[in-house]
Amino acid sequence: MSETSNTVFVLNGPNLNLLGLREPEIYGSTTLDEIAGMLEDRALELGLTIDMRQTNHEGMLVDWLHEAQAQGARAVLINAGAYTHTSIALLDAAKAITTPVIEVHLSDPKTREEFRHVSYIGMAAAKTVEGHGPDSYRIALEAVASGEV
Ligand code: DQA
Repeated sequence: MSETSNTVFVLNGPNLNLLGLREPEIYGSTTLDEIAGMLEDRALELGLTIDMRQTNHEGMLVDWLHEAQAQGARAVLINAGAYTHTSIALLDAAKAITTPVIEVHLSDPKTREEFRHVSYIGMAAAKTVEGHGPDSYRIALEAVASGEV
């Protein structure tokens, strides 16, 4: 049985590299780098370490979920972007690992277009945090630190 580390994987999917520029009326003006910095500071206070990543490729997110398990990560925070609403592969990957997964969104997809109302990754998530802008990530991290997840 492998040991669990203090590392929390923070996985970000398609178009999140454009945060700050992308539809600021929905996603705000904070960049992904700024979110990473904020999370690193909070993680330090909580005795955790962040491994923050972003990709535009679905299979990469699948590989990273597997890697989280292989490395004994404490938890995975995942904002899968639009793959949230389409990817059974991500659902299967989240179900295939024992590492707890928290689904994160800046916006609240449930209040937006109907095609965003389904979340496949959410079906395997221990918790979902959405609609709090960049704070969604912090709230999810605090749920890991408190032992809620
Ligand atoms: C998002 C919501 C998704 O519906 C959308 O496709 C994104 C961002 C969010 O963080 O609010 O890319 O995951």
